[in-house]
Amino acid sequence: MPCEEASMARIRCLGILLLTLACSTLGVAAADSESGEKLRTSFHFQPARNWINDPNGPMYYRGFYHLFVQYNPTGPHWRNIVWGHAVSSDLLSWVFLEPAIAPSAPYDAKGTWSGSATVLPDGRINLMYTGVQVHGRQVQNLAVPRNYSDPFLREWVKSQLNPVIVPGAGVNSTEFRDPSTAWRGADGLWRVLLATKDHRRHLVLLYRSTDFTHWSAARRPFHEGHTGMVECADFFPLSSAGSVKHVLKISVLESRRDVYFLGAYDDSTDKFLPDDGNDDGLQLDFGIFYASKSFFDPSRRRRVVWAWAKEQDATADDEQKGWAGVLAIPREVWLAHDGRQLMTWLVAEVDSLRTNRVHIADMTIQSGDYFEIAGLQLPAQADLDVEFQVSNLERAEPFQWRAAEAADLCAARGADVQGGVGPFGVWVLASRDLRERTAVSISVFKADERKHMILFCNDVSNSSYSDQVDKHNYGGLVQLDLAKAGGRISLRTLVDNCIVEAFGSHGKIAILSRVYPTSAVGNKARAFVFNKGKSTIVVSRLDAYDMASVKIS
Ligand SMILES: *[C@@H]1O[C@H](CO)[C@@H](O)[C@H](O)[C@H]1NC(C)=O
Ligand SMILES: *[C@@H]1O[C@H](CO)[C@@H](O)[C@H](O)[C@H]1NC(C)=O
Ligand SMILES: *[C@@H]1O[C@H](CO)[C@@H](O)[C@H](O)[C@H]1NC(C)=O
Repeated sequence: MPCEEASMARIRCLGILLLTLACSTLGVAAADSESGEKLRTSFHFQPARNWINDPNGPMYYRGFYHLFVQYNPTGPHWRNIVWGHAVSSDLLSWVFLEPAIAPSAPYDAKGTWSGSATVLPDGRINLMYTGVQVHGRQVQNLAVPRNYSDPFLREWVKSQLNPVIVPGAGVNSTEFRDPSTAWRGADGLWRVLLATKDHRRHLVLLYRSTDFTHWSAARRPFHEGHTGMVECADFFPLSSAGSVKHVLKISVLESRRDVYFLGAYDDSTDKFLPDDGNDDGLQLDFGIFYASKSFFDPSRRRRVVWAWAKEQDATADDEQKGWAGVLAIPREVWLAHDGRQLMTWLVAEVDSLRTNRVHIADMTIQSGDYFEIAGLQLPAQADLDVEFQVSNLERAEPFQWRAAEAADLCAARGADVQGGVGPFGVWVLASRDLRERTAVSISVFKADERKHMILFCNDVSNSSYSDQVDKHNYGGLVQLDLAKAGGRISLRTLVDNCIVEAFGSHGKIAILSRVYPTSAVGNKARAFVFNKGKSTIVVSRLDAYDMASVKIS
């Protein structure tokens, strides 16, 4: 952060929020390297420097959002993990406080790992987190605020009764972690979920308690599967058109995927039954979106989810940048009308960052053509909201793959191989000569007589000249009745220097990518709309905005 801004942050902290300590410890780090500064985000959550990973314990308390995050105060790599703590009144600007929890006792000497916050009906708050002991044994601990009159809840006190949950007989003690937010059943007992594994089998275990400190394990696993270790279980109800569904989300360590199951939960038996055909789970985001954690925001009556967007560059680059890890913009999630999937969209607060608007309507793009979105001041930091209209649907190729092969299809065909209808979409973080560019693309395939399969890809194969970064393409499919939709397909793409968050079909699909342009950085980056398909398409509407930066200090 430039000096001027740093001192502004200090003044704001001192003058308005009286957070001297927060400023001097985290807020005023100097720029480490030029490239690291150019790639830093402008409105995503990241501390001034060092490593972050999972979001922890998000909650709302007396007018402030609290977010904790796995944080290494000593460097841009995964080590010495504490609970970084930040507060915000709008989910966009944040003030970092002193870490809330750090190793201090035999039950957490080797790390204070992920966990959740539970706000009790009487207003008390419990953080439950995983402590790592000397030989790697993982146990669960509690911490509570020292002073409830402090709206920032700066100090946290660990329970004298820690650890409150230890791995029982038959549980792998080095793979037993990430307590969920607790919920209370009709019988008055609190329930919490923990993730573990048993050979290839992953297990989500349920624990119950009358008082939040004495816990006993349920006899049956709450959920199991065969993906190896999972992490960060999250469990919550959602309703749509009067019917309630429960959502169980797990983070699959090996594939680095967040997967959720929709189903029915009965608190008298503590059985969670995934819906028919939902045994393998679904994805909330098809890209680099991991260890997500949600909370219910009582101030706006919505479910909001945070996730970690891990670096895809080399460790040496992180050392040079001085930082590693960004959190995705918080997203609202809700149940689709048909109750068969979750929908996801950026929280509405993000729209308040939109400044200069560029508007285009009814622009035709012939096969092979493209145009630059002119008039943005800083396309490296932008929100592009586009509605495409396709015709010539008889040209769409038949869809002959399985839905699970979407990412492979994006890898094989990406945003450049000509199809009948598409690929078309946007190029962002593009250099003037277009050699460096990240594509967010749409390809239309015929599923049956009426429906179409729409393939959305984040094609990052040309996103950077550097060969030290992971350039895997990610993508997913949406089934649409295009005739009913008037041939229209929507695509919103949020760009913030090193991160691209794409949302298709009004939130039916999301894909997050991390990118590392070398020439298309800062004010040298451009944005375009392209059509590589055989058919002409129409941009029926395009609204592009420059995005203001937020203050994180
Ligand atoms: C608790 O916080 C309030 C508000 O910040 C403060 O005025 C009070 O002195 C604090 N109490 C203690 C015991 O620290
Ligand atoms: C526990 O998990 C670790 C890490 O996967 C593995 O190395 C170890 O063998 C497991 N222990 C048992 C007792 O299964
Ligand atoms: C990437 O660049 C190469 C070389 O210019 C080009 O052949 C290819 O089509 C490009 N792919 C994408 C997705 O931009």
